Amino acid sequence: MKVNLSGGSILVTGGAGFIGSNFIRYAFERAGFKGRIINYDKLTYAGNPASLKDVAAKYGKRAYSFVKGDVCDYSKALRTLKKYRVSAIVHFAAESHVDRSICGPKDFIETNVHGTFSMLEAARNFWSGRKDVRFHHISTDEVYGSLGRTGSFSETTPYDPRSPYSASKASSDHIARAYFHTYGLPVSVSNCSNNYGPYHYPEKLIPLLILNALEGKDLPVYGDGKNVRDWLYVEDHCAAVWEILREGRPGETYNVGGNCEKKNIDVVKDICRLLESVRPSAANPALKGRKYSDLITFVKDRPGHDLRYAINSSKIRRELGWKPAHNFEDGLRSTINWYLRNPAWLAVVRKAAYAVWLDKNYRRRK
Ligand code: NAD
Ligand code: TYD
Repeated sequence: MKVNLSGGSILVTGGAGFIGSNFIRYAFERAGFKGRIINYDKLTYAGNPASLKDVAAKYGKRAYSFVKGDVCDYSKALRTLKKYRVSAIVHFAAESHVDRSICGPKDFIETNVHGTFSMLEAARNFWSGRKDVRFHHISTDEVYGSLGRTGSFSETTPYDPRSPYSASKASSDHIARAYFHTYGLPVSVSNCSNNYGPYHYPEKLIPLLILNALEGKDLPVYGDGKNVRDWLYVEDHCAAVWEILREGRPGETYNVGGNCEKKNIDVVKDICRLLESVRPSAANPALKGRKYSDLITFVKDRPGHDLRYAINSSKIRRELGWKPAHNFEDGLRSTINWYLRNPAWLAVVRKAAYAVWLDKNYRRRK
């Protein structure tokens, strides 16, 4: 049975984060959703209500509500589901950064494993057997482990997570699927490749390097820079999640990828090249006569660094007619322009100063 989205309420966990905030904006602006969205977020370092200021102002309290809450807090989650008569949950909330999970895995186990379990329990209790509802769990391709030079991950690839982050996500995926098989809760799961785009917290490769370059700081490339990621523009991911929510079948998993494999070093060179065209280094006093590419610095590799990820997304293409609408060149240019035009958002985010912490404690020059 399909979820009843017309006029219903969707609870988005982690809606103040990178993909969650883009998804909420997508639902109202692109998908024309007319019901209510409740953004349920704990506001960790990665959560920023400023990312949805425009949506809150434009759509008002009748359509958009923010609830500060922890996904591990079963009682609060259940109260929120009841209060807003929620008929769909899109569960983005997670600790999401691999490097952080290496430095401190505890929060990853708490939020990603325990938090997903609590949300599933709250949904099971509140919906108690209803079928016209949906719990959509957002996951990552990293659960499948590391590929060699060839091949790609499909929905049936065995799980082989290697970082505390991917292990915690793998665990949450299994629990989500178990709730479908055991309790009949209408659960769907999507496993997506690396996203990039606006509102991305600058600890991840693309936003960190854009900002470092503009400030004339080193551009740290782990190892030899030959690790491969499959990049997807965030709006394309949001479109995929929306389609799964509307038309995807309960109990199913959908892999979502950009069909855009790139070596990290090539991504970094692309960033430098595009920056030279929109904000030339010669006119940027922070560069002191250097080019952006002069800042590229190879640093010690990430422990257990997965070599290559690549997604086979033929199932969602075939069954739901989804495909990415953005190519990497255009998506990266829009992303760079977005960071140049949004200094106020960056000022808030920079307060966390996490990248500085990471430089001191984790990254080491070769
Ligand atoms: P993010 O780190 O930018 O945002 C996470 C959000 O979750 C933040 O708003 C944070 O405040 C919130 N949050 C964290 N712990 C919470 C808790 N205990 N209770 C309530 N809220 C909490 O993450 P993202 O990049 O937007 O990723 C969103 C989801 O997508 C995650 O589940 C992640 O595993 C998955 N994913 C991300 C990518 C990617 O490239 N970023 C790729 C595939 C899958
Ligand atoms: P990241 O954005 O952290 O995403 P993930 O680890 O989930 O794939 O990293 C993307 C790739 O870039 C990954 O192979 C690690 C590498 N990387 C660097 O080389 N330098 C950096 O400063 C960061 C943050 C990542």
